[in-house]
Amino acid sequence: MNKEKLTLLIGGEEIGRRVAELAERISADYEGKQLLLVCVLKGAVIFASDLMRRLKVPAEIDFIAVSSYGSDTASSGVVRILKDLDKSIKGKDVLIVEDIVDTGLTLNYLRSSLLNRKPRSLKVVTLLDKPVRRKVEFTPDYCGFEIPDHFVVGYGLDYDEKYRQLEGIYVLDPEL
Ligand code: IMP
Repeated sequence: MNKEKLTLLIGGEEIGRRVAELAERISADYEGKQLLLVCVLKGAVIFASDLMRRLKVPAEIDFIAVSSYGSDTASSGVVRILKDLDKSIKGKDVLIVEDIVDTGLTLNYLRSSLLNRKPRSLKVVTLLDKPVRRKVEFTPDYCGFEIPDHFVVGYGLDYDEKYRQLEGIYVLDPEL
């Protein structure tokens, strides 16, 4: 049986402070706008709910689920939508809430796909960013933490559906 070793990278309190800072900036930037958070399932659920609770401007939330691309689609960057948004985003100030940007393929696709639906504006907030892993150019508008090239779990992020409930972010070091 495989055993995984977890090493703490970012503690829960530090995440909380950073989420509060992001919420401050987003609240200031979206004053008087029609903010709609688009939470990317499942990894961003915990981040999106913590962020939303700290916003000082009215906000709606909707959810979208996308497939991880297989090896055949990895180069094209085509991502399948498994669960679409419930409502139209036309005319809304949309903020995509993501857990982590890795190659950038998922958000690159999601951004252009949602832009076709004519939102008033479209930005991206990610809790984590691994810039060294990029395959396509992609810069999030708001980012919690830049991290090195490690596979991480916790605070919504999983490995095989495990560890999402951890309060902090941990580096997963599988001992095979
Ligand atoms: P990208 O399309 O390569 O940027 O990948 C984005 C998705 O890959 C994220 O939404 C995560 O679901 C997953 N992912 C990438 N890196 C990690 C990680 O370190 N831990 C957990 N999931 C990850």
